[in-house]
Amino acid sequence: MSAPGPGVDTHEMVLIHRVIRREFGQLPRLFRSAADDPARSKVIGAHAREMLHFLHTHHTGEDELLFPLLRERAALDPELMDRMDAQHAQVDAAVTAVGAELPGWTASADAAAGERMAALVEAAIPTLIDHLSEEEQRILPIVSATLTQSEWDALGKHGMSAIPLTRRLVILGHITEEADDAERQRFLQVVPAPARLAYRLIGHRQFTRETTAIRG
Ligand SMILES: [Fe+2]
Repeated sequence: MSAPGPGVDTHEMVLIHRVIRREFGQLPRLFRSAADDPARSKVIGAHAREMLHFLHTHHTGEDELLFPLLRERAALDPELMDRMDAQHAQVDAAVTAVGAELPGWTASADAAAGERMAALVEAAIPTLIDHLSEEEQRILPIVSATLTQSEWDALGKHGMSAIPLTRRLVILGHITEEADDAERQRFLQVVPAPARLAYRLIGHRQFTRETTAIRG
């Protein structure tokens, strides 16, 4: 294990959080927009499934690879860590409940099921937003000073490896969508050169086509 450096660059998590805020913020409207429209519920259902998985992976990565290290090193107020855990549990319960409805709704576009999922997401959003903000403001500065580069990199690898190869370019589109030029360049430094090229050649177009269809 290498010694903690002058500070790990944790900004990539802010980009990941933007995807979560943006896409979960839109989900209630998208579920409602597909009421009784099975062609559309297939499109929205696939997107929602991907985003539920993205959020679940993000949280399990933190649960397994981040929070234990912070607790072990007593880097943070235990009460804050307990709150982080409780927020994860609360959001995870909503993810599980939506995930249980999703396959049936994707096939049927049943309006009542869509409304239940929309309400579940809406109910979880305040906790999710508070959680992401507090993590950015209070956890990431400590992470930067406490973790080694390899410990931080393990979190990124955990997230990336959970995304199927065929979906990585689209997810890259999501992650860089709201990034400014400097953020985009910084993030792309951790992306292998062939993937950067593939994104320019085909990924960005695929991302734009998909999100245009999804957002309507
Ligand atoms: Fe996070």
